Amino acid sequence: MNRKVTVVGGAGNVGATVARGIADKQLADVVVIDIADKKAAGIALDMLEACPVYGSDARVLGTGDYAESAGSEIVVITSGVPRKPGMSRDDLLSVNFKIMQAVTEQVVKHSPNCIIIAVANPLDAMAQAIYKLSKFPRERVIGMAGVLDSARMRSFIAKELGVSVENVHAFVLGGHGDTMVPLPRYSTVAGIPITDLMDKATIDRICARTARGGLEITELVGTSAWYAPGASVVEMVEAILLDKKKILPCSVFLQGEYGVRDLFVGVPCKLGSRGLEKIIEIKLTPDEDAAFKKSAAAVKELVDVIKV
Ligand code: NAI
Ligand code: 2OP
Repeated sequence: MNRKVTVVGGAGNVGATVARGIADKQLADVVVIDIADKKAAGIALDMLEACPVYGSDARVLGTGDYAESAGSEIVVITSGVPRKPGMSRDDLLSVNFKIMQAVTEQVVKHSPNCIIIAVANPLDAMAQAIYKLSKFPRERVIGMAGVLDSARMRSFIAKELGVSVENVHAFVLGGHGDTMVPLPRYSTVAGIPITDLMDKATIDRICARTARGGLEITELVGTSAWYAPGASVVEMVEAILLDKKKILPCSVFLQGEYGVRDLFVGVPCKLGSRGLEKIIEIKLTPDEDAAFKKSAAAVKELVDVIKV
């Protein structure tokens, strides 16, 4: 194949799931970069050997050498410490910031025209760090969180109503933390708002479970989730590589949209071959707007600590 996507931190749980998803769907060749270079080489080889079974001609290569990643169209950055039980996403701030500094320099050097999808936590602050460090235009640095949070909410709605997940759309905006903002008014089943289908107590329960969705998995597994996060990144990669113009909630650098300036926060975005192609501004009620601003303020506290 002549398209290339690199996954930095690709020997880890989320990164490997992303690499495998891209290869299985035959979206591009995949370079798995990891500081654990032998593990990267090994899991990439394992994925390559799965390709004949899936009928995919994607080439998968694992290494610690960024030279192999040169000219990537998309670089996904999952390198970072995951959350352990009792840790908040924000506890990861300083350790993962140092990793972003080391990694971004190499990504920019070898793939100066790429689109970066940020994944490491705390997501919005790490995306902002990458944006500032890379000096890329805002269209080319996009954080993954809203797709995951919305997928969690969709799965809970589908289960509650006993309907296909394919009928369910959900929107979760704001920062990827405890203050995230699930939007029931914009969450629908076959086009019908869930506010017409469920009582307030049920909706409140689903929203609360969505907001602590990452924690729920971490408590059960002992480390953070990877299947749903990996699938969410692959959806974004596919939207960009196939120029789908797909509307997905992503964390992007706001410059006045939603009344927020100079900050990464999750909002509905159109993704296509140029990366972030448009921010969709939807009308929020005063309560929704207050929740969104509170969530943005929580992100601002973190970026102020790392001064990006
Ligand atoms: P993991 O520990 O399984 O994988 C992390 C990988 O990064 C490891 O293979 C490690 O060797 C590698 N790494 C560390 N420093 C590196 C460096 N300087 N250069 C290259 N590779 C390096 O962790 P997991 O579960 O894959 O999570 C990765 C990150 O993604 C965490 O920060 C986690 O909190 C975050 N995450 C974010 C989500 C989101 O919605 N945005 C969802 C799930 C996880
Ligand atoms: C999640 O939401 C930990 O951010 C990660 O699963």
